[in-house]
Amino acid sequence: MKGKDFVTGLEADALDLDELLALSLQLKEEQKKGVETQPLKNMSIAVIFEKPSTRTRVSFEVGLAQMGAHPVVLSGRDMQLGRGETIEDTGRVLARYCDAIVIRTFAQDKLEALAQAAAVPVVNALSDLYHPCQALADMLTIRERRGGLAGLKLAYFGDGNNVCHSLLIAAATAGMNMTVACPDGYQPDPKVIAIANRLAEESGAEIAVTEDASAAADKADALYTDVWVSMGQEAEKDARLTALSPYRIDEAILATAKADALVMHCLPAHRGEEITGAVLDGPNSVIFDQAENRLHAQKALMVTLMEQRGGR
Ligand code: CP
Ligand code: NVA
Repeated sequence: MKGKDFVTGLEADALDLDELLALSLQLKEEQKKGVETQPLKNMSIAVIFEKPSTRTRVSFEVGLAQMGAHPVVLSGRDMQLGRGETIEDTGRVLARYCDAIVIRTFAQDKLEALAQAAAVPVVNALSDLYHPCQALADMLTIRERRGGLAGLKLAYFGDGNNVCHSLLIAAATAGMNMTVACPDGYQPDPKVIAIANRLAEESGAEIAVTEDASAAADKADALYTDVWVSMGQEAEKDARLTALSPYRIDEAILATAKADALVMHCLPAHRGEEITGAVLDGPNSVIFDQAENRLHAQKALMVTLMEQRGGR
């Protein structure tokens, strides 16, 4: 994956994903032991946000600093991008100063246009379509708890959104079965389902979409949900809360899954909407491990994309 972009998550095949997760675990262990390595020494990396962020912003900034790189964290509205400079010109210019560009934005097309224009690796820190860095941290969290991924059952509840799309790609790549439970009108993008089905054919995973939340939870190894109103969808709030309310992760759904099922959420959460407070804070929850693992997984990703690039 050296020198590549990471804009859809499809850049990592099954072997790449396995290696990324192994490296994430190694870097996590080294950090806990206080081992200092600076594989990205003297590199500068732009980290741009056109939407709010807590975890992504802090985990990238801290992770890059831990690896010796200089993170240049920018808010889109403070850049000329916010005043109409094109994404392509922005990419060309940033590539003259920086060794990689990490960006959170709206349209996936815009992110891919940036990746085309910039002569350095571009990383998706969330778009309307995908959140591949989150999926890496989620796979890491499941692997830590279960020792592997292939053959497990991940059940996702609620909105078939960017987080769901990236989980579908990562699960299908890793050979993990995934069922999405959601109401009509909130299914994952059919193009993403088609991609996941193609990957699943290679890995042996099974991908399913259902309106039946109990069937999805049945014997699941992990239950996952995300907010019902993603950034940029605020005007649809009332309709979304009504349509999605049967898909809340609560004690009853948890009781349908395996007794030791992992409860997962990318955060930020709305307790009482997509998940009850009791389940989020309960013994099955690995939600704050997922948040921590953003740091380790992104460090592994950046090292993999950047190492031995030798600067500009
Ligand atoms: N999960 C996640 O991406 O969180 P932030 O929006 O806080 O970055
Ligand atoms: N689906 C959510 C994820 C936030 C991390 C959003 O796009 O707002």
